[in-house]
Amino acid sequence: MPQHVQGVIAPGRNEPVRVETIVIPDVGPGEAVVKIQACGVCHTDLHYKQGAINDEFPFLLGHEAAGIVESVGEGVTDIEPGDYVILNWRAVCGQCRACRRGRPWYCFDTHNAKQRMTLLDGTELSPALGIGAFAEKTLVAAGQCTKVDPAVAPEVAGLLGCGVMAGIGAAINTGNVGRGDTVAVIGCGGVGDAAIVGSRLAGAAKIIAVDIDDRKLETAKTMGATHTVNSRSTEPVEAIRELTDGFGADVVIEAVGRPETYKQAFYARDLAGTVVLVGVPTPEMQLELPLLDVFGRGGALKSSWYGDCLPSRDFPMLVDLHRQGRIDLAAFVTETIGLGDVEKAFARMHEGDVLRSVVVL
Ligand code: APR
Ligand code: ZN
Ligand code: ZN
Repeated sequence: MPQHVQGVIAPGRNEPVRVETIVIPDVGPGEAVVKIQACGVCHTDLHYKQGAINDEFPFLLGHEAAGIVESVGEGVTDIEPGDYVILNWRAVCGQCRACRRGRPWYCFDTHNAKQRMTLLDGTELSPALGIGAFAEKTLVAAGQCTKVDPAVAPEVAGLLGCGVMAGIGAAINTGNVGRGDTVAVIGCGGVGDAAIVGSRLAGAAKIIAVDIDDRKLETAKTMGATHTVNSRSTEPVEAIRELTDGFGADVVIEAVGRPETYKQAFYARDLAGTVVLVGVPTPEMQLELPLLDVFGRGGALKSSWYGDCLPSRDFPMLVDLHRQGRIDLAAFVTETIGLGDVEKAFARMHEGDVLRSVVVL
């Protein structure tokens, strides 16, 4: 029997989001219905609402979630009803060229549930990033569920499903930050702060936080930044060089996604250092750099998609590190809210007031 549950939809471009009754079909082969316990409010949800991702309204928003598997379809063997899972938006296929070469974090053929959730009148919903978890329950591909230790609260665990994983992964997976490295993180929102947490975890000797907002720099210190630079009042490339004995940082993580901050990252790294772009640019942005500098400074210019994470490897590992007190994921939860508060949470996000608002069901 299809089920009726409450969920948050974005009905049209820039229209306020609202709670509606949605219809969840019975699980089909390879699918799972998950009872959502918590789901963080991410920038990407706001981008969907603004029509900046695509035009396939109405969207069922939410994609940073943890919950309990309610039912699984035919052929599902990795998870079973009752399992506590974090949802991911890049389910590894196991068959594509990337997967077969042993690089599943680049999987080119990620998959979602085949069936669609709908409104009561039958209108098909587009789930945000193939998840749609601002809802009491959602339908996903079973491969989008990663089982983790239930001892960690869902409002904390769910954050690994997107922004926090992106930031930690930018440092440990893409940037390969190692013991004794100097790291600079440009942009200290949720993603940049997570990159700071990841850098500290990896043993970085110096972690320089750069932002234009002093409030963000204060939080960055509590996350593990050893130095801070307000790039509104201080030239950040010079400041990072000074703090690294004139060399520049081994790894610079750009967590804003703008050409000017990318350039700062490019020039603030040591010779043969690494730049990691984890902030997401918009389509009209262009980057201009002297090609000779790209050659002459050597090293690596990398982008980090979803923190180059492998959910089955990284989610349980980070949950365990949180349980052991070696990282504090709870520090990212600024507030917990209800399903009806998502529009307000977007406003607070816009004001820069929160790292994460998390819907708890
Ligand atoms: N220089 C330095 N910091 C900046 C600048 C700038 N020119 N412009 C903005 N910032 C800072 C903001 O003050 C804020 O602290 O960047 C931070 C961005 O944080 P959030 O808005 O909370 O965004 P976050 O969720 O961390 O995501 C960062 O990664 O996933 C992508 O789409 C996301 O592009 C976004 C980026
Ligand atoms: Zn694949
Ligand atoms: Zn997200």
